[in-house]
Amino acid sequence: MKALVVGSGGREHAITRALAEDSKVYAAVDNRNPGIVELAEDVREVDTNSPDEVVEYAVDVEADVAVVGPEAPLAAGVVDALEDAGVYGFGPRQADARIETDKAWARRFMRENDVTGTPEFRVFDDSDAAADYVMDVEGDVAVKPHGLTGGKGVRVTGDQLSKEEAQSYVRDSEWSDWVVEERLRGEEFTLQAFVADGEVRAMPAVQDHKRAYEGDEGPNTGGMGSYTAAGAVLPFMTRGDYDAALDIVEEVVEHLPEYRGVLYGQFMLTADGPMVVEFNARFGDPEAMNVLPIMETSFSDVVQGARDGELPEVEFSDTATVCKYAVPEGYPTEPESGAEITLSPEEAGDALVYYASVEERDGRLYTTTSRSVAVVGLGASIEDAERDADDALSMLGDGLRVRHDIGKPSVVERRVSHMEQVRR
Ligand code: AMP
Ligand code: GLY
Repeated sequence: MKALVVGSGGREHAITRALAEDSKVYAAVDNRNPGIVELAEDVREVDTNSPDEVVEYAVDVEADVAVVGPEAPLAAGVVDALEDAGVYGFGPRQADARIETDKAWARRFMRENDVTGTPEFRVFDDSDAAADYVMDVEGDVAVKPHGLTGGKGVRVTGDQLSKEEAQSYVRDSEWSDWVVEERLRGEEFTLQAFVADGEVRAMPAVQDHKRAYEGDEGPNTGGMGSYTAAGAVLPFMTRGDYDAALDIVEEVVEHLPEYRGVLYGQFMLTADGPMVVEFNARFGDPEAMNVLPIMETSFSDVVQGARDGELPEVEFSDTATVCKYAVPEGYPTEPESGAEITLSPEEAGDALVYYASVEERDGRLYTTTSRSVAVVGLGASIEDAERDADDALSMLGDGLRVRHDIGKPSVVERRVSHMEQVRR
């Protein structure tokens, strides 16, 4: 099979590596990710948000399928345009991608269809009205701009932000359209599933770490790292919690019968079970790097099966994974680019290395202003996987920063006791 990959981050490096086992991969990229360049038959730099440019490349290389990594091309209608050109896009069409790209639409869709785990919310198209409501409504809230902000537009009131501060934030911000919703309390986790023709194939649950600094301090980022436990269920949850989250994903697909690609559920495990924080219309980054390396079913078979109306069963090995991103010093608020990246796949021991946003000059790699490179440790336990990941990161040079706490036994144990406290 000839598979086109759209996008060029760590997630797309992982997608490329998984597809390249059984397919010829062509990559439409925004920047020349050296990991993708090494694995692909051919790479073309395009505007990945331009349906015309992506389709032109897909047609030139006679791609059988295209796997779209990031959300922005989905929002731009890249899958619709591929379809018009006769290329199967593994990703939702623009209308179904609204589950991620339009938070107001997504919440209304969940309410109209009575989707389990939908929090209380109100939608506003006026900042002053939204700000007033923040003060009027009882209890803590999350305030979210409607559109895509890379997770950076959301604010949650509570220990770190007062309702007065949230009100000023909403009133003074550049956005006018808001969802204000009930604050959910508990532990967050991600459940991703392959979806086609109403069929759902679940992946192991993952816990991402969005805050920039150790101990979950600092601003939100795209995700600093993530882990899975052997056997799909995270230490702070039960099999019943996992199944409840999967039921919610299946409810959504029932009401979006045309949905295809990866559906990503972000859940808060609360005292009342999993509640929906949001849905994404694609693999998570970093979460893709946790699940794709432990897939026992060929990813090419999954995509081809989706195209042919025969989505296969999907198996994963009983392996724990820990993924940690190295990011430029100062990321995400004042990232300093230009540090040399000395970490290489050859010297990472048993860990896997995935490149994200790096710049190549004279055969050397340097940081840009986004997440640079990720390592993934694999093991029988989270502890083993974490050790491999951290060993590989010991070679990291100056000018890069890592959250070493991700996947450490004491930190995982804290999640478990937090969840016990929440359930009490
Ligand atoms: P989102 O872009 O919707 O994923 O929001 C970014 C982050 O804000 C989430 O990962 C949560 O940590 C937090 N968040 C969003 N909505 C809520 C909510 N209703 N209650 C508590 N935290 C939330
Ligand atoms: N890791 C969060 C996301 O991909 O949206």
